[in-house]
Amino acid sequence: MVLHWLIAAGVIANWLIRRTAKATESEEAARAIMSNHFSIGVTLWFLAIALLVVHFTGGKAPLASHLATWERWLARIVHTLFFILLLVMPFGAWSAMSQYGAPISVFGLFSVPPLPMEVNPEAAKAAFEQHGQAGVILLSLLVIHVLGTLKHTVLDKDGNLFRMLPFGDAKG
Ligand code: HEM
Ligand code: HEM
Repeated sequence: MVLHWLIAAGVIANWLIRRTAKATESEEAARAIMSNHFSIGVTLWFLAIALLVVHFTGGKAPLASHLATWERWLARIVHTLFFILLLVMPFGAWSAMSQYGAPISVFGLFSVPPLPMEVNPEAAKAAFEQHGQAGVILLSLLVIHVLGTLKHTVLDKDGNLFRMLPFGDAKG
């Protein structure tokens, strides 16, 4: 549960950081802002692995028993795509950074060294463009995920949100 909310906060923070960096005129300032995105991005990879371990060792978020079959499928597909993107996006960004020949500093605590790849700024640029597109897909999934939660919690009043909170009534 804590992992889920840390991941949600990290994803939203990374989106906002990217937006802020894009809107910043000074290139140096934008770079400093983006270093937080890099650090959070690497952390998200470890958090996603941890959530996956919890998921497969019995801590999986139980879907309410009364869900329609299509709702159950949609929720499963969205969760699976979340896991895939959270694992692939930092890895793709790491290989892109490697093609710039640059390490990734994580909160100034340690650095992730570049992979042994040929330096190729053109390929790195293209890889980061794909990373940005993956980010847009992730945010679209977030909209579906939150709308689903709200539909169940507010319209159906089935306590869905409370499945992910330590308080309240998670019915069914
Ligand atoms: C980008 C941010 C988010 C990501 C990546 C994410 C990811 C996930 C994943 C992977 C699960 C399944 C966990 C498992 O099976 O072990 C899940 C479940 C759940 N999430 Fe999120 N989540 C995010 C944001 C949110 C937000 C903002 C809300 C509330 C408004 C929310 C509410 C829930 C609920 C209620 C469940 C329980 C299962 C369900 O009904 O779908 N999530 N989330
Ligand atoms: C799961 C982890 C990550 C998430 C959820 C994430 C999310 C995002 C999002 C939403 C965007 C913006 C898309 C847009 O506005 O069009 C983006 C862009 C970007 N991210 Fe990440 N990111 C992650 C990890 C990383 C890492 C580890 C790095 C670098 C080491 C990185 C570097 C970048 C760069 C350079 C861009 C700009 C791409 C471009 O528009 O050309 N990200 N990311």
